[in-house]
Amino acid sequence: MARILVLYYSSYGHTETMAHAISAGACQAGGQVVVKRVPDLVPPAIAAKAGYIVNQPVPTASVAELPSYDAIIFGTPTRYGMMAAQMKNFLDQTSQLWAQDRLVGKLGAVFTSTGLQHGGHEATILSFHTVLLHLGMIVVGLPYSYGGLTHMDALVGCSPYGASTLSGKRGERTPTEIDLEGAKFQGRHLASLAAKLAG
Ligand SMILES: Cc1cc2nc3c(=O)[nH]c(=O)nc-3n(C[C@H](O)[C@H](O)[C@H](O)COP(=O)(O)O)c2cc1C
Repeated sequence: MARILVLYYSSYGHTETMAHAISAGACQAGGQVVVKRVPDLVPPAIAAKAGYIVNQPVPTASVAELPSYDAIIFGTPTRYGMMAAQMKNFLDQTSQLWAQDRLVGKLGAVFTSTGLQHGGHEATILSFHTVLLHLGMIVVGLPYSYGGLTHMDALVGCSPYGASTLSGKRGERTPTEIDLEGAKFQGRHLASLAAKLAG
Protein backbone atom coordinates (compact mmCIF):
# COMPACT_ATOMS: atom_id res chain seq x y z
CA MET A 1 0.00 0.00 0.00
CA ALA A 2 1.49 3.35 -1.02
CA ARG A 3 1.98 5.95 1.71
CA ILE A 4 0.72 9.38 0.68
CA LEU A 5 1.24 12.66 2.54
CA VAL A 6 -1.15 15.54 1.88
CA LEU A 7 0.82 18.52 3.19
CA TYR A 8 -0.70 21.99 3.13
CA TYR A 9 -0.74 25.50 4.49
CA SER A 10 -4.00 27.42 4.80
CA SER A 11 -4.87 30.74 6.43
CA TYR A 12 -8.60 30.82 5.74
CA GLY A 13 -9.56 27.18 5.12
CA HIS A 14 -9.92 26.94 1.33
CA THR A 15 -6.67 25.04 0.80
CA GLU A 16 -7.55 22.92 3.82
CA THR A 17 -10.92 21.97 2.28
CA MET A 18 -9.14 21.00 -0.93
CA ALA A 19 -6.60 18.97 1.11
CA HIS A 20 -9.38 16.84 2.56
CA ALA A 21 -10.85 16.27 -0.91
CA ILE A 22 -7.39 15.24 -2.18
CA SER A 23 -7.13 12.86 0.78
CA ALA A 24 -10.56 11.35 0.05
CA GLY A 25 -9.52 10.67 -3.56
CA ALA A 26 -6.19 9.14 -2.52
CA CYS A 27 -8.02 6.88 -0.03
CA GLN A 28 -10.40 5.75 -2.82
CA ALA A 29 -7.32 4.54 -4.74
CA GLY A 30 -6.22 2.50 -1.73
CA GLY A 31 -3.52 4.86 -0.50
CA GLN A 32 -2.51 4.98 3.14
CA VAL A 33 -3.07 8.71 3.54
CA VAL A 34 -1.81 11.15 6.16
CA VAL A 35 -2.96 14.80 6.16
CA LYS A 36 -0.65 17.32 7.80
CA ARG A 37 0.04 21.05 7.60
CA VAL A 38 3.19 23.13 7.81
CA PRO A 39 3.66 25.50 10.76
CA ASP A 40 2.53 29.12 10.53
CA LEU A 41 5.07 31.92 10.66
CA VAL A 42 2.77 34.86 11.26
CA PRO A 43 2.76 36.21 14.83
CA PRO A 44 -0.50 35.14 16.55
CA ALA A 45 -1.70 38.73 17.09
CA ILE A 46 -1.35 39.55 13.40
CA ALA A 47 -2.93 36.24 12.37
CA ALA A 48 -5.91 36.94 14.63
CA LYS A 49 -6.29 40.47 13.25
CA ALA A 50 -6.19 39.11 9.70
CA GLY A 51 -8.86 36.54 10.53
CA TYR A 52 -6.65 33.47 10.08
CA ILE A 53 -8.07 30.19 11.31
CA VAL A 54 -5.98 29.45 14.38
CA ASN A 55 -5.70 26.22 16.38
CA GLN A 56 -6.28 24.05 13.31
CA PRO A 57 -6.82 20.44 14.46
CA VAL A 58 -4.59 18.90 11.76
CA PRO A 59 -1.09 18.03 13.10
CA THR A 60 2.00 19.76 11.76
CA ALA A 61 4.54 17.76 9.74
CA SER A 62 8.27 17.52 10.36
CA VAL A 63 10.79 17.74 7.53
CA ALA A 64 12.39 14.51 8.79
CA GLU A 65 9.27 12.45 8.09
CA LEU A 66 9.06 13.32 4.37
CA PRO A 67 11.19 10.37 3.14
CA SER A 68 8.78 7.92 4.79
CA TYR A 69 6.14 8.61 2.09
CA ASP A 70 5.96 7.30 -1.47
CA ALA A 71 4.17 10.42 -2.69
CA ILE A 72 3.61 13.91 -1.33
CA ILE A 73 0.97 16.34 -2.54
CA PHE A 74 1.51 19.91 -1.45
CA GLY A 75 -1.25 22.50 -1.04
CA THR A 76 -0.68 26.23 -0.70
CA PRO A 77 -2.65 29.46 -1.08
CA THR A 78 -1.39 31.81 -3.78
CA ARG A 79 0.62 34.69 -2.39
CA TYR A 80 1.50 37.28 -5.03
CA GLY A 81 1.44 34.61 -7.74
CA MET A 82 3.48 32.00 -5.90
CA MET A 83 3.44 29.67 -2.91
CA ALA A 84 2.97 30.99 0.63
CA ALA A 85 6.11 31.77 2.66
CA GLN A 86 5.04 29.22 5.26
CA MET A 87 5.33 26.42 2.69
CA LYS A 88 8.56 27.79 1.21
CA ASN A 89 10.07 28.08 4.69
CA PHE A 90 9.24 24.41 5.30
CA LEU A 91 10.72 23.38 1.95
CA ASP A 92 13.85 25.45 2.59
CA GLN A 93 14.57 23.13 5.52
CA THR A 94 14.93 20.08 3.24
CA SER A 95 18.56 20.67 2.25
CA GLN A 96 19.79 17.57 4.15
CA LEU A 97 17.19 15.48 2.35
CA TRP A 98 18.29 17.04 -0.95
CA ALA A 99 21.98 16.36 -0.20
CA GLN A 100 21.24 12.70 0.54
CA ASP A 101 18.82 12.13 -2.39
CA ARG A 102 16.12 11.17 0.11
CA LEU A 103 13.20 12.38 -2.02
CA VAL A 104 14.57 11.32 -5.40
CA GLY A 105 12.09 9.22 -7.39
CA LYS A 106 9.13 9.96 -5.14
CA LEU A 107 5.97 11.39 -6.63
CA GLY A 108 5.15 15.05 -6.02
CA ALA A 109 2.06 17.06 -6.90
CA VAL A 110 0.64 20.49 -6.07
CA PHE A 111 -2.78 22.03 -5.53
CA THR A 112 -3.70 25.58 -4.61
CA SER A 113 -6.30 28.12 -3.59
CA THR A 114 -6.12 31.50 -5.31
CA GLY A 115 -8.20 34.60 -4.71
CA LEU A 116 -9.04 35.57 -8.27
CA GLN A 117 -9.60 33.81 -11.60
CA HIS A 118 -6.47 35.37 -13.10
CA GLY A 119 -4.63 35.78 -9.80
CA GLY A 120 -1.97 33.17 -10.52
CA HIS A 121 -3.26 29.67 -9.72
CA GLU A 122 -1.37 28.11 -12.61
CA ALA A 123 1.77 30.18 -11.90
CA THR A 124 1.69 29.10 -8.26
CA ILE A 125 1.60 25.41 -9.16
CA LEU A 126 4.14 25.64 -11.98
CA SER A 127 6.68 27.57 -9.90
CA PHE A 128 6.17 25.07 -7.06
CA HIS A 129 7.07 22.28 -9.49
CA THR A 130 10.56 23.77 -9.77
CA VAL A 131 11.23 22.91 -6.12
CA LEU A 132 9.94 19.35 -6.59
CA LEU A 133 12.23 18.86 -9.58
CA HIS A 134 15.25 20.13 -7.61
CA LEU A 135 14.44 17.53 -4.99
CA GLY A 136 14.36 14.84 -7.70
CA MET A 137 10.65 14.18 -7.39
CA ILE A 138 8.47 13.00 -10.29
CA VAL A 139 5.86 15.69 -10.93
CA VAL A 140 2.23 14.60 -11.26
CA GLY A 141 -0.49 16.94 -12.52
CA LEU A 142 -4.22 16.66 -13.13
CA PRO A 143 -4.80 15.03 -16.54
CA TYR A 144 -7.55 16.03 -18.95
CA SER A 145 -9.15 12.68 -18.25
CA TYR A 146 -10.73 14.73 -15.46
CA GLY A 147 -13.64 16.12 -17.49
CA GLY A 148 -14.03 19.15 -15.20
CA LEU A 149 -10.99 20.71 -16.89
CA THR A 150 -13.06 21.47 -19.97
CA HIS A 151 -15.92 23.04 -18.00
CA MET A 152 -16.53 26.58 -19.32
CA ASP A 153 -19.99 27.50 -18.00
CA ALA A 154 -19.03 28.79 -14.58
CA LEU A 155 -16.14 30.23 -12.60
CA VAL A 156 -14.09 27.22 -11.54
CA GLY A 157 -10.51 26.33 -10.66
CA CYS A 158 -8.28 23.38 -11.70
CA SER A 159 -5.84 23.08 -14.59
CA PRO A 160 -3.69 20.31 -16.04
CA TYR A 161 -1.00 21.42 -13.58
CA GLY A 162 -3.09 20.62 -10.52
CA ALA A 163 -6.32 21.10 -8.64
CA SER A 164 -7.23 24.61 -7.55
CA THR A 165 -10.07 26.69 -6.23
CA LEU A 166 -10.90 30.39 -6.35
CA SER A 167 -11.56 31.86 -2.92
CA GLY A 168 -12.72 35.32 -4.06
CA LYS A 169 -11.33 38.74 -3.21
CA ARG A 170 -12.49 38.52 0.40
CA GLY A 171 -12.43 34.74 0.76
CA GLU A 172 -16.20 34.67 0.31
CA ARG A 173 -16.32 31.72 -2.10
CA THR A 174 -16.15 28.05 -1.21
CA PRO A 175 -14.68 25.36 -3.48
CA THR A 176 -17.13 24.36 -6.23
CA GLU A 177 -18.04 20.75 -7.00
CA ILE A 178 -15.77 20.96 -10.06
CA ASP A 179 -12.87 22.06 -7.83
CA LEU A 180 -13.53 19.39 -5.19
CA GLU A 181 -13.96 16.63 -7.76
CA GLY A 182 -10.74 17.81 -9.43
CA ALA A 183 -8.98 17.55 -6.08
CA LYS A 184 -10.37 14.05 -5.55
CA PHE A 185 -9.33 13.07 -9.05
CA GLN A 186 -5.79 14.32 -8.51
CA GLY A 187 -5.59 12.48 -5.17
CA ARG A 188 -6.81 9.26 -6.80
CA HIS A 189 -4.46 9.70 -9.74
CA LEU A 190 -1.44 10.30 -7.51
CA ALA A 191 -2.26 7.37 -5.22
CA SER A 192 -2.80 4.93 -8.07
CA LEU A 193 0.53 5.95 -9.67
CA ALA A 194 2.24 5.66 -6.27
CA ALA A 195 0.82 2.17 -5.81
CA LYS A 196 2.22 1.12 -9.19
CA LEU A 197 5.66 2.53 -8.32
CA ALA A 198 5.65 1.06 -4.83
CA GLY A 199 4.55 -2.32 -6.22
C1 LIG B 1 -0.30 38.34 1.17
C2 LIG B 1 -1.34 37.81 0.26
C3 LIG B 1 -1.07 37.73 -1.10
C4 LIG B 1 -2.04 37.23 -1.98
N1 LIG B 1 -1.76 37.16 -3.31
C5 LIG B 1 -2.69 36.74 -4.16
C6 LIG B 1 -2.43 36.70 -5.57
O1 LIG B 1 -1.34 36.96 -6.05
N2 LIG B 1 -3.43 36.32 -6.39
C7 LIG B 1 -4.67 36.00 -5.92
O2 LIG B 1 -5.55 35.70 -6.71
N3 LIG B 1 -4.93 35.97 -4.59
C8 LIG B 1 -3.97 36.33 -3.71
N4 LIG B 1 -4.22 36.32 -2.36
C9 LIG B 1 -5.46 35.72 -1.88
C10 LIG B 1 -5.18 34.29 -1.44
O3 LIG B 1 -4.79 33.49 -2.53
C11 LIG B 1 -6.40 33.69 -0.73
O4 LIG B 1 -6.46 34.33 0.53
C12 LIG B 1 -6.25 32.20 -0.59
O5 LIG B 1 -6.61 31.57 -1.79
C13 LIG B 1 -7.10 31.65 0.52
O6 LIG B 1 -6.64 30.33 0.77
P1 LIG B 1 -6.76 29.77 2.25
O7 LIG B 1 -8.20 29.90 2.64
O8 LIG B 1 -6.34 28.34 2.16
O9 LIG B 1 -5.86 30.55 3.14
C14 LIG B 1 -3.28 36.78 -1.47
C15 LIG B 1 -3.53 36.84 -0.09
C16 LIG B 1 -2.57 37.33 0.76
C17 LIG B 1 -2.86 37.38 2.23
